[in-house]
Amino acid sequence: MGKITIAIDGYSSTGKSTIAKRLAKSLHYIYVDTGAMYRAVTLYALDHDLINDKGEINAPKLVEALPDIALKFVPNPETGRSDMHMNGQNVEEEIRSMRVSGKVSKVSAIKEVREKLVKMQQQMGKDKGIVMDGRDIGTVVFPDAELKLFMTASPETRAARRYKELLENGEEVSYAEVLKNVQERDLIDSTRSISPLKKAKDAIEFDNSDMGLEEQFERVHDFAQRVIAKK
Ligand code: DC
Repeated sequence: MGKITIAIDGYSSTGKSTIAKRLAKSLHYIYVDTGAMYRAVTLYALDHDLINDKGEINAPKLVEALPDIALKFVPNPETGRSDMHMNGQNVEEEIRSMRVSGKVSKVSAIKEVREKLVKMQQQMGKDKGIVMDGRDIGTVVFPDAELKLFMTASPETRAARRYKELLENGEEVSYAEVLKNVQERDLIDSTRSISPLKKAKDAIEFDNSDMGLEEQFERVHDFAQRVIAKK
């Protein structure tokens, strides 16, 4: 049986990564969370004072610094997952903070940032056998992916999921703040001029507002098995 490329796109906090990780594990495929890559570049920009108090990004300086930002997914034996390392440092926890979430949409709208990360992503998937999640995987990174999913859920459902996660990580945030961030990111991600979030024509749309994890996984796994069986 041949290996395929699976592209999972969709809005923030639709549970893309949970499903993608599980799917990759069950198929013995590589899993790549491309959001983590955009988040790491954002963290670099924040830590190097390339974003001012008004939230404006010094894009020319950030673009100049891109060759100095080394990104790597490193397996973590404790969690059984991969952590994002930036310039040799484990930044997995920091990149999930609200500090980063609040700025990542703007950083990911920079053309040169996207070009660098898309190239890296294409390289990671060149041998297929990969599940990649993000916003532009089925449209830009792997337009020829054999299976494309587009995940959606209502903003309120997504904000509630994200709020729970942040509380579990010990962040002090309000639900209202999280909902505002989800809505702002939806708007920026889907209206930016370069690679906006949109469903690929051949993607299967998957609204999981009212679906439990097990049901979602079973359905997605079923889609994948059918495509793989035809290879
Ligand atoms: O999946 P996530 O919420 O961790 O992604 C963080 C941000 O990164 C998201 O607001 C948009 C951006 N992103 C992107 O522009 N393209 C991708 N392929 C993945 C993420």
